[in-house]
Parts: sequence; structure tokens; C-alpha cells
Amino acid sequence: MIDIHSHLIPGIDDGAKDMEESIAMARAAVEEGIHTLIATPHHANGKYDNPWKRVVQAVHDVNEALKEQGIPLTVLSGQEIRVYSRLLEDLHNDIAGTLHSTPYILIEFPTREIPKETESLFHELRVMGLVPIIAHPERNIELAENPSKLERLIRQGALSQITSHSINGLFGKKIQKLSLEMCKHHLAHFIASDAHNMKYRAFGLREAYALLSRQLGDRLVQGYMENAEKLIRGEAVEAPEPGWRDKAWWRFW
Ligand SMILES: [Fe+2]
Repeated sequence: MIDIHSHLIPGIDDGAKDMEESIAMARAAVEEGIHTLIATPHHANGKYDNPWKRVVQAVHDVNEALKEQGIPLTVLSGQEIRVYSRLLEDLHNDIAGTLHSTPYILIEFPTREIPKETESLFHELRVMGLVPIIAHPERNIELAENPSKLERLIRQGALSQITSHSINGLFGKKIQKLSLEMCKHHLAHFIASDAHNMKYRAFGLREAYALLSRQLGDRLVQGYMENAEKLIRGEAVEAPEPGWRDKAWWRFW
């Protein structure tokens, strides 16, 4: 399996604290059957800035440590980027980067709302040949209350990534139900761990795929796995027509 969103790099955000924890996380990833993961430290989220060069160097160091330990995991460079005003400029200056330098860029919204400039930013990214992937839409309050807003962004060319722990129920029944609905109605294109540590937020990717397979069928899971493979090869991913309908009974919060 490939995991496209994780905080495995030690000491640069709220993920792994030190190399020891990174190694423990890497072992856990391999145990689940993950062979490749993209390290996506937070960038420009108000608390952490991790310029691209720092990420690439840190990923190199982690890979060296994994080799030394004989752990069969390949770590690739990425960032989880908040919507911020200098993003386009920083992409040009190599301060911000995409997932494994492919056209796919992982974008995080603040917890409460969708930033006003999102649609114009996504348009600019598309003009640059990039594809925004919205990280964990199921955990953004505005999107959770109005999944049709996510559908709109997807119809405009964005993709979305749901967190394995949301599907597994770690964030509660409501988020679990919403995540399954989003998967069912093609408002998700990737499942990823967003792993931060071993104690509370490890991977859970195998478990999420198993649950999705039972609930929504194996074909959907195959599609998610293939999309992650296509992503790291920089190829176009499968994005079926989204089919969300806001229901009268749908009140999330
Ligand atoms: Fe994350």
C-alpha cells in the first residue's frame, strides 16, 4: 500500500517527535503493508513553516536511517499546505512543493471554514498544471455541514483525501458516517493515514480499506489504491462523477 499523507519526519511539526518515533512509525507502516509513504509536514499553517528544501533534506535523512535499520519503507517528499496568500509565489520559489514533485498538491483548510480565496487559488493552480487535493474534508466544519460545497470544488477540478481514522471511527460516529457517505458518492479519491504518532494517531490504513471493502465493495478500495499508485507516478487518477445530494435530514453538527 501507498500512504500519501503522513507526519513521519522527526521534530519539524506535530508529528514524530524524534528519529526513534519516526522509526517506530515506519515499522508500524511496514507491518500494515505500506511500502511507500509521502511525508507531508505542515507548511504555513500558522504554527509550522517547513520550506521544501528542509523537507527534502529531512526525508533523505529518514531514508538513510531506515536503510540502516533494514526497514523496507520508502519515504517521499511532500507538504501539507494551508491556503495562504504567498502560496503561488512560494511554489515558484521552491519554498512550497507538491507531493513527490508530481502535479498533485496537498492543501489543508482551517478547521472551521473554507477560505474565501479557495476557488481562485485552485483556478490558478489548475492553470499551472497542478491538481489540488483537499486534505480531510470530512474534518472541516463548513464542508461537513455542506458536502455540496466539496462537490462543487471537485467539479472544478479538485480531488479529496479522507483520513483512515475518520473511516475507522476514531473521530466519532458522525465523522465516520459522513466519511462513508463521501466515499459512496465519489467525493473522495484517496484514503491516507495522516499519521502523527504511535500513541493516538498511527496508520489504520489497512483497517480503513477493510471496512470500506465490507461496506462499499472491493472495487472502490481497488480504485483508491490505484489512485495512490498513479499519484506517485504523476499520472491522471480515477475521478468518477460526484453524486452528492444534500438531503433534508442531513444536519451534521
Ligand atoms: Fe496532516
